[in-house]
Amino acid sequence: MSFPRTRQRRLRRSETLRAMVRETRLSRDDLILPLFVVPGSGVREPVASMPGVFRHSVDQLVLECKEARDLGVPGIILFGIPEEKDARGSGADAADGITQRAVEAVKREVADLVVMTDVCLCEYTDHGHCGIVQDEEVLNDPSVARLAETALSHARAGADVVAPSDMMDGRVAAIRSRLDDQGFENVAILSYAAKFASAYYGPFRDAAESTPSFGDRRAYQMDPPNGREALREMRLDLQEGADALMVKPALPYLDILAAAAREFDVPLAAYHVSGEYAMIHAAAERGWIDGERAMDEALIAIKRAGADLILTYAATDVARRLSA
Ligand code: PBG
Ligand code: ZN
Repeated sequence: MSFPRTRQRRLRRSETLRAMVRETRLSRDDLILPLFVVPGSGVREPVASMPGVFRHSVDQLVLECKEARDLGVPGIILFGIPEEKDARGSGADAADGITQRAVEAVKREVADLVVMTDVCLCEYTDHGHCGIVQDEEVLNDPSVARLAETALSHARAGADVVAPSDMMDGRVAAIRSRLDDQGFENVAILSYAAKFASAYYGPFRDAAESTPSFGDRRAYQMDPPNGREALREMRLDLQEGADALMVKPALPYLDILAAAAREFDVPLAAYHVSGEYAMIHAAAERGWIDGERAMDEALIAIKRAGADLILTYAATDVARRLSA
């Protein structure tokens, strides 16, 4: 049957009808808020390239977490920026490091907020790479050992989920073994499994002071044209013991997210990254697009493609709109 008996517009005539036949809904339970934590107290520094995003000291971070939780955001992911950086990223696994202190405070002060940590070395190394460097090469296995110690230190501080974002080979297995050996068998691993070497991380690197001092991340992060390889990365991380998988960035890689949703039966996360967030805000500031609508459209597209969880800097804003 076709036109004129079939008319697709019949079910679009009112908002009530549209809501009735809507296939995908964004829920506050889907959202994870990324947060940056810096040393000091009373610090709430705006990130210039990310309107609405701040770098907080631990005391201010707790307030931000309470607000997010009160609005229904179930989880956060923490990025620590240490006082000092060195070649091995010593701050990454320090028991009293910035991330560890932040995790302790948030777990103590904000009831039932799921606390995830980004596990990487780039915020802690003086060269800004995600691993141990020798002769301008990022070494895999020595980096994995440091990452496993970092994940363990986050677990000791009370993290519910650790999320390795470094893209070294074998890091999920190493983290799983180290956690299990030390009695943290209940700490989950959300692997940044398909993480691409992307131009969209620019604003994040300003916020996290993690721009590499030489070269780029293409020898460890994935090459953007590769889709089948992304599925292989995800499969390997599952075999190594990942509980959930991430695709990152989100909008430019929805094909990979959709393929992963068909292929795997674990929860899938997508990271709507800093550059994706910044573009929407930049265009909205110029009056070129409606920022709220563009943000909602981006997030629903990510959900429709197959994400169970969405990491977004707009989590609190969106939760506020969803609860209104
Ligand atoms: C650290 C890390 C990065 C992001 C998350 N974890 C930056 C990078 O790999 O350079 C990017 C997040 C964003 O752009 O919002 N490895
Ligand atoms: Zn990194």
